[in-house]
Amino acid sequence: MLRLGTSLLVVVLVTSSIPSSEQYFYNGIKSGLEPDLKHSLFLDRVGQCRWQRDLPLLMSDMRIAQQNNTHYVISGVLRVRRNITETMMGTVSIEICQNATQCRPFIDPPVAIGDLCRFLTDQRNNTLGEVLGHSVPPVGCPITQGVYRINDALVDYKPFRYFSPNVSKLWRIELVLNCGQKRVFCVRIELHVYSWEDMLPRY
Ligand SMILES: *[C@@H]1O[C@H](CO)[C@@H](O)[C@H](O)[C@H]1NC(C)=O
Ligand SMILES: *[C@@H]1O[C@H](CO)[C@@H](O)[C@H](O)[C@H]1NC(C)=O
Ligand SMILES: *[C@@H]1O[C@H](CO)[C@@H](O)[C@H](O)[C@H]1NC(C)=O
Ligand SMILES: *[C@@H]1O[C@H](CO)[C@@H](O)[C@H](O)[C@H]1NC(C)=O
Ligand SMILES: *[C@@H]1O[C@H](CO)[C@@H](O)[C@H](O)[C@H]1NC(C)=O
Repeated sequence: MLRLGTSLLVVVLVTSSIPSSEQYFYNGIKSGLEPDLKHSLFLDRVGQCRWQRDLPLLMSDMRIAQQNNTHYVISGVLRVRRNITETMMGTVSIEICQNATQCRPFIDPPVAIGDLCRFLTDQRNNTLGEVLGHSVPPVGCPITQGVYRINDALVDYKPFRYFSPNVSKLWRIELVLNCGQKRVFCVRIELHVYSWEDMLPRY
């Protein structure tokens, strides 16, 4: 009995040790351009822009789970309230924030990505393509009325590596789709990025 207890303790101690090269990124995913990858990125929220619940496309707050030190797994539900037959033109805006309410544009004006359907077919490899590629039923163009479940889409650190904590620790990205002058979709991504040294307690 004592012998069994001792070997169990050994197993617990051995398996709970984390390789030292990875411990900085046990929380958040690695980020940054520097080769030492000292930044940790925390994806806080992916979901509909606040106060914009009445648009034809509605994205639920997605569930975000960390897979390992390079990937998140995200899942959610996209509700399309009517068939969208018009061309949807997309823009991406990036803001830096002091806190949850105080933000200012980092790039101005927002970056135009053009016709969403063309963007998706030309660049299947991008993160948006990856996310929509995990939809059941598949999101096709033109987008038809219905409920689309996005299951376990993998998001890696690569699209986020330019978000430097030297510029801001809190960032906000918005993807907006318009049909002509009318907004049909707005999704917001909120993220924190830290140099792990910033997280050390200071006394
Ligand atoms: C993290 O998980 C992803 C997805 O499962 C995998 O492709 C990748 O190789 C993993 N990375 C590490 C460092 O284990
Ligand atoms: C939306 O498009 C689908 C597929 O083309 C069609 O079956 C459906 O009737 C359309 N719905 C409306 C409300 O127009
Ligand atoms: C956000 O920061 C601004 C400016 O520093 C401050 O006036 C405001 O009270 C802060 N808001 C919150 C919710 O902390
Ligand atoms: C997708 O990625 C592969 C390999 O990275 C590349 O060869 C291919 O050209 C890319 N396709 C598109 C449409 O960008
Ligand atoms: C960010 O700041 C750190 C610490 O002040 C510095 O060592 C690093 O070189 C900076 N990185 C960039 C990309 O400016």
